[in-house]
Amino acid sequence: MSSNNRSSFQIKPGGAITGRITVPGDKSISHRALMLGAIAEGETTIQGFLQGEDTLATAKAFQQMGVEIENDGNLVRVKGVGLQGLHAHNKALDLGNSGTSVRLLAGLLSGQSFDSELIGDKSLMTRPMLRIIEPLRTMNADISCSDNGTLPITITGGHQLEGIHYELPVASAQLKSCLLLAGLYAEGTTTIIEKEATRDHTERMLATFSHPLNKSANKIFCNKADRLIGTDVIIPADFSSAAFFIVAATLAPGSDVVLENVGVNPTRNSMLKIMQLMGADIELLNERQQSGEPMADIHIKSSQLHGIAIPEELVSIAIDEFPVVLIAAAGARGETRLTGAAELRVKESDRIQSMLDGFIATGIQAEATDDGMIIEGGAFKGGIIHSHGDHRIAMAFAVAGMISNEAILINDCENVATSFPGFVELAQQAGMDIDILKS
Ligand code: S3P
Repeated sequence: MSSNNRSSFQIKPGGAITGRITVPGDKSISHRALMLGAIAEGETTIQGFLQGEDTLATAKAFQQMGVEIENDGNLVRVKGVGLQGLHAHNKALDLGNSGTSVRLLAGLLSGQSFDSELIGDKSLMTRPMLRIIEPLRTMNADISCSDNGTLPITITGGHQLEGIHYELPVASAQLKSCLLLAGLYAEGTTTIIEKEATRDHTERMLATFSHPLNKSANKIFCNKADRLIGTDVIIPADFSSAAFFIVAATLAPGSDVVLENVGVNPTRNSMLKIMQLMGADIELLNERQQSGEPMADIHIKSSQLHGIAIPEELVSIAIDEFPVVLIAAAGARGETRLTGAAELRVKESDRIQSMLDGFIATGIQAEATDDGMIIEGGAFKGGIIHSHGDHRIAMAFAVAGMISNEAILINDCENVATSFPGFVELAQQAGMDIDILKS
C-alpha cells in the first residue's frame, strides 16, 4: 500500500533530542489486538492502535472477511464474529509489506472452513514461508506456497487441525504466534518449545481475551479454544520505534529526552541492556502494567559509547532494533561485534547487507559476516543511502545524519509509513534537522 510518490529523507548534521515525546503504538501488539478482537465474541476497543500501513493491512484483511472495524484514528472498535464467524473472501488478502500479518493470519486461516489466498508486496513476496507451512501441514492444514517457499500462500479450508509438539527451529515470534493461533482451532494441545526467547505478545494477548495459556520453562501449551471474549485493550508506544530516539539522544551531544508510555516487555527490551553495556545513560521511570503489558517512560541523556561484543543471548530479543544499534556502534569508540543474528538477512530487506551498503556509502568501516557484523566506530562523512525499501534502515540512517560531518540523503523512504507514520514530524519536533524530499 506504499504511495507511488517516491520520498527521500535529508538530514543535516547537528541538533539535540530534547523534551517529552510519544512515539506511535506498538506494531506487534496492534496486530494481535485486532486479530483476537475479530475472532472474539462481543466488542473489542483498542486505544493506541498503530495507524501504520502494516496494521491497516491486517484490518483490511478482516474487513474482507466480514468483520466490522471502525477506526476514527484514535479508537478502534472491532465487532468480534466469534471463532467460526469469519466469511470467505472473494479476492486474495494483500498484506502489503507485513510479515507479521501474513504469518499470523496463515495460522488463523488454516483453521477455517473456507479457502484463502495470501499475497504481499515485492519484499514480502520474497520472504521465507516454509518455516510456517511445514509445521502447519503437520497440524493437518492443507496449505501451500510457491516452489521457492514464498508467497502466494493458498489454504484449502475445512480440515480439522490437530495439536502438535513442536520445537521452533528459528527464534521467530511470528512462527510461534502462527502456531498458537492455529492451536486455538486444533484438537488437543499445541505445545511449542522455544530454545531462545522471542516476544510473548500473543501469549499475553490471549490471556487478555480470556484464553490463558500454560507455560513451563521454555514450553508453551495452547488448548483448543471454546471462545475468546472481547475486551478493552490499551496499547503502549512501540519500543522498536522508541529505539531510534534512544540512539539519537545517546549520540547527539546535549540531548536529554523522555519517551513516554513505551512498552518495555522483557521479551522486547534487551536493546536497553546492549546500549547500557556500551555506556548509554538510560533510566526507566514510572514503570507500570496495562492490558497485560509492562510499560514505562524512558529517560535518555547523551553519552560517549564504547564498542562491545554483543552477548548472543540478547540478540533474539533485540532483533528489530539492530539497524539502529549498529548506528550506535558506528558512533562508539572502538570495535563492536554482532554475532548470532542471521535472521537479519530475511527481514524487510537483508539488513546485514543494507547496513553494510549504508556504512560503505557514509565512510564507516564495517565487515559483514554470515550472521552479523564487525563495526569500527568512526565518523560518518555524509552521503547517499539506499533504504532498500526497508523502514528501519531508513530511520536508522536518519539518526546517523545527526552526528555526520555532512548531510545524509536517504532514498526510498515510503515504507517508513508501515511502522512509524509521522516519523519525520516527530523527529523534527524532537530536534533532528530532517526534511522529506518528494519526487
Ligand atoms: C514480530 C516478530 C519478529 C519481528 C517482527 C514482528 C511479531 O519477526 O522481527 O518485526 O510481531 O511477531 P520474526 O518472527 O520473523 O523474528
